[in-house]
This record gives sequence, structure tokens and C-alpha cells, in this order.
Amino acid sequence: MIRLTGLTKRYGSFTAVDRIDLEVPQGELFGFLGPNGAGKTTTLRMIAGILRPTAGKVEIAGIDIAKDPVAAKTKLGFIPDRPFIYEKLTGAEFLRFVAGLYDQEGPQIEHRARELLALFDLEEWRDELVESYSHGMRQKLIISSAFIHRPAVIVVDEPHVGLDPKAMRILKDLFREYVRRGHTIMMSTHTLEIAEGMCDRIGIIQGGHMRACGTMDELRANATGGDTGLEQIFLRLTGENAAREMVDVLDA
Ligand SMILES: Nc1ncnc2c1ncn2[C@@H]1O[C@H](COP(=O)(O)OP(=O)(O)OP(=O)(O)O)[C@@H](O)[C@H]1O
Ligand SMILES: [Mg+2]
Repeated sequence: MIRLTGLTKRYGSFTAVDRIDLEVPQGELFGFLGPNGAGKTTTLRMIAGILRPTAGKVEIAGIDIAKDPVAAKTKLGFIPDRPFIYEKLTGAEFLRFVAGLYDQEGPQIEHRARELLALFDLEEWRDELVESYSHGMRQKLIISSAFIHRPAVIVVDEPHVGLDPKAMRILKDLFREYVRRGHTIMMSTHTLEIAEGMCDRIGIIQGGHMRACGTMDELRANATGGDTGLEQIFLRLTGENAAREMVDVLDA
């Protein structure tokens, strides 16, 4: 459902994403991990068609997003890391607005909006302006907006930030159920337990390169030094010494 071929983004002489090849099949929840500045957001924004690649190709459900951006984007829901949200809309209006961007309206959308708002405990707030929402409430509304038009593919950049434990649980169940029903999700996260507990496959990116990619079992099988946990695998691949160096800083 998502196919990246040689996907590259350069800013001047700096290469943020370097020739990434990846296929995420239908019905998979793919976790995208990597240290700060590794290139996750840059990659996800290229997949969402917001950022133009320097080289390489993004295909969504077989459609080349550079050749037919509208057709590719109708298949896609995107949750950015720093979402823009209209303060002067109510929660219900915002969901209606997003559905409208995808040419969808009517009783089915109203029904879905009610269900999503109820799922995230926002029904009492549906007619309040977004400007009165807390950080977590906004995040829950943004997440809901990616599901309102039932896209085949959802691309999410760190959706858990600011969510309370109950909302996290709902998010996890919602994402799992969505892929079980044949949709596809690619999600970046820094929370390794979430990635390990929730994703079918995991890719680890560093310095714009995909360093490892596979199921937890495959990552374990390829890990050196008998690493079994995702934290060990991640730290070994991406430079495990940083934490030790910190101790020196504190001692100095
Ligand atoms: N507009 C830009 N101009 C120049 N460099 C940029 C630009 N956007 C991103 N970069 C650089 O590209 C690299 C990758 O950034 P990106 O935001 O993709 O990282 P990330 O993996 O999402 O990190 P984080 O975990 O902190 O969100 C970083 O070094 C960043 O400074
Ligand atoms: Mg990012």
C-alpha cells in the first residue's frame, strides 16, 4: 500500500533522507523509529505529499504521488507532528471540515464524527471551540480527523504525544482494529514499548538511512550481542554510548 523507492530529500548539501526503499503491505501497522533528526518526519511528509522528494518515488496503493497527487491523497489520512487546527471551529465542525476536504458529507460522516468523539471522551466538547481544548483533547481530535473519511492508508507522526493512559489505550485498540479490517498504518514513535507492543513491523532510521527493518523476531535474529529487547537493539544500532557520556557530563 505504501511503496518508497530510492526516496531522498536533500537540503542544500545536507541529506536528510537517503535512498530509502520500503514496502508496507495492506493490513500492516508499520512502526518508524529513529533518534531525533533521523529523518522520520521528513519521510512521512514526503509520503503525505506535503514535501517534494529530491529523488525517488512514493506510491500509495500503486499510485505515484508525484504523477497523480489528488488520486493518491484521497487514499491517505495524515496526522502531522505539529498539527494545524482552526481555533474558531468546534470539534464537530473540524471533523466535518476535514471530511469536506475529501468530498465527503452527510449522515454517515455525522455518525462517524459522533462515534469518534464518543470514543475519545470528547462528546461533551463537540460544540465547544477548539481554542478551549487542552493539548491532549486537541490531539484526540486530530487523531479522529484522520479516521473520518476512512482512508486506506493512515500516516501518523508521533500520535501519542500528550495523550493520557486511557487515550493511549484507545489509540492502540483503534489502530490495531483499523489494520485488522484491511487498512494500512505507518506511524513514527519514540516510545519503544508502544512500537514493540503494537506494530507488525518496525523500521529504524538513522542519519537518513534505514538501519534495520523487520518484525521483532527478525530484528532480534539480526541483532548482534544477543540483544533481545527493542531498546537494546535500538541503542546498539543508533549509538549506545550517548547515555554513558551523560554520566561523565554530570560528574564533570
Ligand atoms: N526545512 C529544512 N531545512 C533544512 N534542514 C531540515 C529541514 N527540515 C528538516 N531538516 C533536517 O533534516 C533532518 C531530519 O529531520 P526530521 O524532522 O525528519 O527528523 P525526525 O526523525 O523527525 O526527528 P524527531 O525525532 O526529532 O522528530 C534534521 O537534521 C533536520 O535538521
Ligand atoms: Mg519528527
